[in-house]
Formats: sequence, C-alpha cells, structure tokens
Amino acid sequence: MTSSPDTGASSPDSEAPSSFPDGGAPSPFPDSEAPSPFPDGGVPSPDNEASPPGDGTPSPGNGTSASDDLFQLVFRSAPWTFQSLYVTARLGLADLLGDGPLTSDELAVATESDADALYRFCRAVAALGLFREHPGRIFELTSTGEAFRGGGLAQFTIVNGAENFRSWADVMYSVRTGKPAFDRVYGMPAFAFLDRDEEARKVFHTMVGRGTVPPAVDSCDFSSDTTVVDLGGSVGTLLAHVLRERPELRGVLQDLPSVVGEAPTVLAGAGVAGRVEIVGRSFFDGVPAGGSTYVLSRVLHDWGDEDALRILRNVRAAMTEDSRLVVIDQVIPEGGGFHPGKFSDLQMLVVLGGRERTVEEFRGLLLRAGLKIRALRPPADDPAGSPRTEAVIEAGV
Ligand SMILES: C[S@@+](CC[C@H](N)C(=O)[O-])C[C@H]1O[C@@H](n2cnc3c(N)ncnc32)[C@H](O)[C@@H]1O
Repeated sequence: MTSSPDTGASSPDSEAPSSFPDGGAPSPFPDSEAPSPFPDGGVPSPDNEASPPGDGTPSPGNGTSASDDLFQLVFRSAPWTFQSLYVTARLGLADLLGDGPLTSDELAVATESDADALYRFCRAVAALGLFREHPGRIFELTSTGEAFRGGGLAQFTIVNGAENFRSWADVMYSVRTGKPAFDRVYGMPAFAFLDRDEEARKVFHTMVGRGTVPPAVDSCDFSSDTTVVDLGGSVGTLLAHVLRERPELRGVLQDLPSVVGEAPTVLAGAGVAGRVEIVGRSFFDGVPAGGSTYVLSRVLHDWGDEDALRILRNVRAAMTEDSRLVVIDQVIPEGGGFHPGKFSDLQMLVVLGGRERTVEEFRGLLLRAGLKIRALRPPADDPAGSPRTEAVIEAGV
C-alpha cells in the first residue's frame, strides 16, 4: 500500500539519503538562530540537567560526535517531528504561505485552528527549517518549505501521519509476531480499510497517483509491445505515462472496484482513455489474458510470500510464451549500508504484512510461479542518493 515518495522537488538537495523532507540537514535547527532547543539557549551538561527528569525531551550528548549523532537521530525521529510535518501537510500550511508571509493568527483562521496552538506548531516547524519566523508571529516559507508544497512528500506525510502512524504505535506487536500491527489496531487489513474508508482511500491514491510514477518504468522498452496490463495500477497514472508517447499501444488497468472509479478522469486527462480497458477486479480472482507485458509496480511488496505467489500464479496463467512480466519494486542489496528499502520493508511489515525482497528472494518466488528472471535493472540513481530506488525485474516463462 505504501509507495516510495516523490520528493516533489528537483534539486539535488532534496534527494539526500534521508527520510527527512529537508534532505537530512545535520542540525535539527537549520534555520533557527538559537543553537539549542533549550529555553535558556545553553547546552546542557552531559547528565542532562537542563531537562527535567521524565519530560521525555532528549538532550544533546556529551560533545562527542557519536552522542551528538544519536541526539540528532532521536530528536528528529521523535513523534513531534513527524506529526508536526503531518499537521503542516494536512492543513496545507505551506500552500497557504505560498503567496507570501502570514501571521499564525491568519493561518489559524484559514485552517479553522486554535490560534495559540497553531502558533506553537508553526514555531516548531520553523525550527525544523520549513518556515522562517519573524517578529509578530509572522511566518514565511523557506526553500525547504517550498518543496513541501503539494508535493509527493507532503502526500507521503499525510498518508503516514494518520492510520499508518497509529499502527506504528503498536510496532512491538509486529516485531514479536511477524504480523501487521495495522490489522490489530483497525480490526482489518489495510486494503480492506481503504476499501471502506473513502477519505483514506482518496488520500492514498492521491499519493500514488500524483506524479509518483516510478522512474524505473522509463528504463523499460515497450517498442515491441501491443498491450500493457497494469495490475494494481491504482487510478492509471503509470499506464497513462506509458501510453501517452506511444499511440499504437493499448492498455488494461486492473485494480479493486473501489479504486478504478477515478481512472477514467486520469486516463482522459492524458488523452489515452480510448485505448484503455478498465478492469475493477481483485488480482487474486484472476488476471486478463492477452497482454504482451504485465506490470506489477510497487505491488508485490504489499504482500507476504504466499499472497505474492497467488498473484504471480494468476499472472503466469494469463501469460503466453511471448509475454513478459515487469516487476517494479525495491530490491534490497545484500549486506550492510543504507538503503531506503530497508525502512520501507518495515513499513510493509507493520502496515500490510508484506515485505521488500532481495534479488534472490524475488528469483525464488518467481521460480515457484513458473517464471524466470530475464533482466534486472537497478535504479538509475545511486540508491544512497535518492528515495526513488525501485529496480526493474523482467521475467518470462
Ligand atoms: C502501493 S499501490 C501501487 C500502485 C501503483 N501500481 C504504483 O506503482 O504506484 C498498490 C496497489 O494495489 C492495489 N490492490 C490492492 N489489493 C488489490 C487486489 N486484491 N487486486 C487488485 N489490486 C489491488 C491497490 O488498490 C493499490 O492501487
């Protein structure tokens, strides 16, 4: 269910190997004039005297780089950081400041919020570097805040600030059982929840549908294709992207009935609606025959191995000797080191009971479905330098 975010910004800074929208600046207070988060502006002693015991506020370490690194990690990953960004995105504060600075009172009126509470939120968000605070409770957008306006990362924050965030509160359950906390918290799997909750579904498909076509798809050659079948293709954004430049190509879009309702608008907007058949049906119940290419983009990672295998067997049954399967997903490298897929893998565990996979895990799964890997293309960008790290695996019978 969860896709990799599009940063919504093209500057290299925004593609730093960090989960933070500002690109992972080393200080949590990049725009702040005060060097310390503490009211007196001082650096507390190593044993944390500046922070009353039990208030939950971490303090900078003892001046060693390791303890300072740890402080940055803990401080910036705390709920207050993410939830402040969530409120910023959900209330559209960056968009409201897009035309120029406003007071927090004006923002409170525009967003129907409590004026004092919103001021305190804006002050904290300014300390994170998205706004600049001026005297008189006036807030101005910084370049980092500008990148947050209506972009994929804002959508990502919205999706992850609500139901997913509550699921993460129960992450211990997932770690101990290997099962998704989401199901325990909400009493049903995430896709069943989205099926019933129109608002949450809209938010989710805006994220996957708005400018988040994985760049990996552009490394695929569709020149000898006749029909591309996009399975779990959401509202058709990827299919529209593929068909737009290829007038000879036809498409089939398959997703759940509750999802494909918005597809005609997206496909018509791209001028390809007349060439696409829309199938509102679960891929567990079958996959249409006749495709020259079947696409599973950011779908297999939503599922554990047995469910992924059921999908792949249905795809295999629909394929001929000549057709190919294109899988677009994170491929986790063996060994240590940073890779965004290692975190997205945890998200899959907690929210969906799915997983990201290594190439050998993909190979094993595909073989069990009667398919062989024919090509593997890693992401064009260095995974350490970009959150858009899906790879392409092409398979055939
Ligand atoms: C993470 S999204 C990926 C969307 C899109 N392929 C992309 O690359 O952005 C997973 C998609 O699988 C769809 N899906 C979930 N369960 C499904 C099912 N049983 N049958 C068909 N599609 C399903 C969801 O509605 C969603 O659109």
